[in-house]
Amino acid sequence: MATRAFDVKPLFAEPYFVMNIADAISPAQVKFIQSLKMNSNQVNQISDELYLFDQPKLKSIAEAVQSALDTYASEVLGITQKLEVTQSWALMNPPGVGMHGHTHSNSIVSGSLYYTDMPDPPGNMIFERHNSYRQLEFIIDGRKQNIYNAPRNAVVPKKGDIVLFSSGLQHYVEPNNSSQNRYAIAFNTFVRGTIGSFRDVSELKI
Ligand SMILES: [Fe+2]
Repeated sequence: MATRAFDVKPLFAEPYFVMNIADAISPAQVKFIQSLKMNSNQVNQISDELYLFDQPKLKSIAEAVQSALDTYASEVLGITQKLEVTQSWALMNPPGVGMHGHTHSNSIVSGSLYYTDMPDPPGNMIFERHNSYRQLEFIIDGRKQNIYNAPRNAVVPKKGDIVLFSSGLQHYVEPNNSSQNRYAIAFNTFVRGTIGSFRDVSELKI
């Protein structure tokens, strides 16, 4: 085979965003979140409170999350509108339990907050390239795997990290292969402000 030079360049990319906000989380807040009433979800446990950041005791955390969202909106999305948290909830995965693949409806950017110590191993969050049926599914040669063809990619959660990602991205959580519980908070957001254009009659004020 003739060896001719070629170029491969990215056309677009899918971001995820990480900011550590451990300084905004107190031991008393961790205790408060861990003492919330939990219900069994499909496999893991989810808090009864589904507007968690509205709790006055969690004000400093809600403010830090908002500042991460403000940075994401202006620096990553490059927009002037505001991203605001809609629902927010606590999650707990006991040993052996993960979370199946899903996306977040009625949300623009979703997030996870690892508000306390993570187990070892921490149970990675796995993002998938595809979120629907694939008629053709090629097996990628592991030695040739790269950012253009990888079917999935892992994010390793760390204590105090907030991870932001597009709500339409399919993701799942690996089973908790430690002997400790795995704690996290999840949340959705929506945009507030004016989008579109008055003159183009595409204006929408929300
Ligand atoms: Fe999720």
